[in-house]
Amino acid sequence: MSVYLDNAATSFPKPPAVLEAISEYVMHNGSNPGRGSYTQARQAAELVCETRNLLCELFGFNAADSLIFTANVTEALNLAIRGIVKPGDHVITSSLEHNAVWRCLKLLEQELNVSITAVPCSKEGFTDPRHVEAAIRPETSLVVFTHASNVLGTIQPVREIGGITRRHGILLLVDCAQTAGACPIHVARDNIDILAFTGHKGLLGPMGIGGLLISPGIEIKPLKVGGTGRDSLSAPSKGRVV
Ligand SMILES: Cc1ncc(COP(=O)(O)O)c(C=O)c1O
Repeated sequence: MSVYLDNAATSFPKPPAVLEAISEYVMHNGSNPGRGSYTQARQAAELVCETRNLLCELFGFNAADSLIFTANVTEALNLAIRGIVKPGDHVITSSLEHNAVWRCLKLLEQELNVSITAVPCSKEGFTDPRHVEAAIRPETSLVVFTHASNVLGTIQPVREIGGITRRHGILLLVDCAQTAGACPIHVARDNIDILAFTGHKGLLGPMGIGGLLISPGIEIKPLKVGGTGRDSLSAPSKGRVV
């Protein structure tokens, strides 16, 4: 018997209930939610709505309309970082980031002259929140932190870091790729402004699903535009992710 040990990359095997739900949808519905008003399309839209509500419950978030789905957490993180950071801004991050964050920041360093401070962690793999506070500058617009590194698995003190960012009026984006569905995380109690998650690890879903929970009032420039609706001449309203 083989033992699967690569859960940090993706969870396996997926529970039978996940396969049954996907098969039920593909075999008996198959419609495009939000793209029609016939029975199956409305049922599919209800499933999406139900999923949003369940995720909000799981993550302690009370604005289901501000939960958006993406292809994975890489896309969610790129959307949030590139949609918030402006030319000349300063961003604080951990020394434990996945390339989904790190490469995105390094590209902004080249493209927009953004400066980055990567706060070091202890040899046990924990970040001291005081080091985050010490790194804050007048032009700091974002703190982006992994909740748990895929290499070490140490849980970072997000609640304390969030207390600091709240006091300084800076946004906190947390990469929950490794912890969503595996460890408790609560947007309201943990002082998180934006939470990014993936569906194919601890949430036991298939690949190709992730998302962002964006606290109301935060403006994020879209990474992609499109969507549905009759008014195709209208540009997306400023700050709305479509
Ligand atoms: C901490 C962390 N962030 C981001 C990612 C990227 O995940 P995804 O495949 O959902 O884009 C991973 C995947 O290993 C990860 O561990």
